[in-house]
Amino acid sequence: MKFFIDTANLEQIKEAQALGILDGVTTNPSLMAKEGITGEANIINHYKAICKLVDGDVSAEVIATDFDGMVKQGEELAALNPQIVVKLPLIKDGIKACKYFSDKGIKTNMTLVFSVGQALLAAKAGATYVSPFIGRLDDISTDGLNLIAEIRQVYNNYGYQTEILAASVRHTMHIIDCAKLGADVMTGPLKAIEGLLNHPLTDIGLAKFLADFKKGN
Ligand code: G3P
Repeated sequence: MKFFIDTANLEQIKEAQALGILDGVTTNPSLMAKEGITGEANIINHYKAICKLVDGDVSAEVIATDFDGMVKQGEELAALNPQIVVKLPLIKDGIKACKYFSDKGIKTNMTLVFSVGQALLAAKAGATYVSPFIGRLDDISTDGLNLIAEIRQVYNNYGYQTEILAASVRHTMHIIDCAKLGADVMTGPLKAIEGLLNHPLTDIGLAKFLADFKKGN
């Protein structure tokens, strides 16, 4: 399972990269705004800075909602660095743009996915990644994890190569459940990733090992 961090915060990206388990970064306009990164030039510079910090894929989202605009913005983003994955909303023109970029060998991430039908279209358009938002489904009393399971089944039925990128991951248990269901990638906050480290028996066991070592010295 690939681990992406879902943030535009450079310190958190550095911290996740230093752990040695990071495979990439996802961002969106809201995450950029949260870090105070606004305006096209600043956003572009921020993508460049993120690419310098990590080795893997970095999703950069288009703002345009029409085909021509998405193609223009996506091409500009893709030209920044080979690590850039063009992130497109799953709307009609987004699917058309996805097919355009897939045919050109440019990686894509279809975002704002909330149904199996949308995921099927993304796969048919040759998307590199499809991003079902599990937390936002949970927010409206709908089982987000069930969507991961359904997309996995459909993709397996036909051997689609599009990777299921579980997004809107909110906590550690989401990561574990996504792994059990066979999501190819998860993107979540640093706190959710670090939660995987925690076990009280590890802490108790380590404290005892250290205490016993001291006794013998
Ligand atoms: O990966 C998608 C993500 O950025 C949305 O997460 O927590 O705003 O639903 P959230």
